[in-house]
Amino acid sequence: MCGIVGAVAERNVTPILLEGLRRLEYRGYDSAGIAVLDQDECINRVRRVGKVKELSDALQQNDIRGVLGVAHTRWATHGEPSEKNAHPHMCNKSVVIVHNGIIENHSVLREQQINEGFEFTSQTDTEVAVHQVEHYLKIEDDLLKAVRLAVADFEGAYALGVISKKENNRLVATRRGSPLVIGVGIGEYFIASDAAALLPVTRRFIYLEEGDIADIRTNALTIYNDKGDIVEREIKESELSADATSKGEYRHFMLKEIHEQPSCLIDILEGRFVNGQLLDSAFGIGIDGRSAVEILDQVKAVQIIACGTSYHAGLVARYWLEAIAGIPCRVEVASEYRYRKTVLMDDTLVVTISQSGETADTLAALREIKELTNLTLAVCNVPESSLVRESELKLMTRAGPEIGVASTKAFTTQLIALLMLVAALGKRRGLAADKIKTLFQQAQALPALIEQVLQNKADIDAWSEHFTDLDNAIFIGRGTLFPIALEGALKLKEISYIHADAYPAGELKHGPIALIDQDLPTIAIASMDGYEGKIKSNIQEILARGGKVYLFADERLDVSDLGENCYVMKVPAVDADLAPILFSIPMQLFSYFVALRKGTDVDQPRNLAKSVTVE
Ligand code: M6R
Repeated sequence: MCGIVGAVAERNVTPILLEGLRRLEYRGYDSAGIAVLDQDECINRVRRVGKVKELSDALQQNDIRGVLGVAHTRWATHGEPSEKNAHPHMCNKSVVIVHNGIIENHSVLREQQINEGFEFTSQTDTEVAVHQVEHYLKIEDDLLKAVRLAVADFEGAYALGVISKKENNRLVATRRGSPLVIGVGIGEYFIASDAAALLPVTRRFIYLEEGDIADIRTNALTIYNDKGDIVEREIKESELSADATSKGEYRHFMLKEIHEQPSCLIDILEGRFVNGQLLDSAFGIGIDGRSAVEILDQVKAVQIIACGTSYHAGLVARYWLEAIAGIPCRVEVASEYRYRKTVLMDDTLVVTISQSGETADTLAALREIKELTNLTLAVCNVPESSLVRESELKLMTRAGPEIGVASTKAFTTQLIALLMLVAALGKRRGLAADKIKTLFQQAQALPALIEQVLQNKADIDAWSEHFTDLDNAIFIGRGTLFPIALEGALKLKEISYIHADAYPAGELKHGPIALIDQDLPTIAIASMDGYEGKIKSNIQEILARGGKVYLFADERLDVSDLGENCYVMKVPAVDADLAPILFSIPMQLFSYFVALRKGTDVDQPRNLAKSVTVE
């Protein structure tokens, strides 16, 4: 996690760095800091605990200016959020570093450096990085060479921006395992953890490869690969506009992103579902030149790997892949999969799902699995991400930047993408063309249904009032709605800090029902999927034990027998296969309104970061 930004220019870079930090704040917001080299070749550094706002307030009192600088917004890993632990880190008031990642062998390096006489002022792993560069500067007296030698000593993941007071027109940047992009200006260059941070100053970007080191000056850029050879990396023009990352008329990014879902669901099918047919070209072309058709033809089973919300999308896909496409599927969280001894059946397509494409566990699992197979597919929202670049096939979710930490539009677009995979594999196993056509016609009808749910916002808000003083809640669902119950519980936990667990409704009687009393509400979701009678019985069991139930139900469901302790909110009638997508919307709105009433920081909930680039 953490966001880094840097600049070398002929103008004052402080406002550029600050704006970059604001745009990177989703990556962490425990502390923020900036260091710039002024015209007297003095490094001025300001750091503050808390959000970028604290830093920008501090800079109002202490206006630091310069043409070379780096800045950082932190998600704490090693060392508490404090000013001392905030980046940039500095050695001998001469070398300055910002870092995203984890230097895993920091204890060994720290010991060596203490013996060498370096003084430590923080508990971070990053401080060893700056001392190591200084150590090599004493030998080489060249920033680029010193950084190259230093990173060779690091184990772990890093994206680094490094400046030295002795070189007032030089920024050295490098990455391995953490993302880093170079923004190309006219007579100026920038670096950042993602392109959106630099959109106010450029739309031209170079995405560094693993192990690349960039030597950046106002009038020259040289990139070396991990073997030390000079390499050309393509400049890509971003299609994002600077305000794609603004809240617009909405109070929070999360609310904006919830409302964007109808148009996102239209965008993701654009040019992919044509004349009643789903095109295999949606999956791109294999890295080794093999066509998607050839690769998909080979697939006999699916292994899905993901984290958090993306994992829940994978769980829905398992139901679909087995029931609709008739293909065996396993799903696992990446943090477990990557360390487990696993058995991969021949011709298994490994599908990683990730909004960011930079989630460390998912990426590490992909890298492990590539030792065994080249049948890999990334379902992802960020085309330039590591996951996409390192996977054989890619299916982009086209949701646009998602800034709110709680994932919303990324999730529903992942579901549609996975439905495309279901269709692509299903048709190879005899799934009728008509069934596929109907499935996607129904998917095309979803935006209108979502709009109807969005119109019911006020009712959902009214329910949320019942939850503001509660500490616990239970979510239940069956079939494809069980993962949606899991997702509802995750949303509620992460933004309202209410403890919530989700169960397949049939599991309650095996233990969790003991928890039920009048103070523990259950949120239930029911579509007309053939399980509706079963979940109604489970609801009756809760009501019989004095529990209260909040039921989101397909409008066709007869709820007349459920009694007054079961509050019901109708959801528009939807085909059972598509129900998990539509029912996600009330779950999102519900957690949003509870969080709003509780006064939490909806877009940047405590202890979290949008992109989890550390283990
Ligand atoms: O970028 P990814 O989809 O790989 O992120 C995985 C999880 O960190 C993410 O889905 C997380 O669970 C969400 N913030 C939950 O809303």
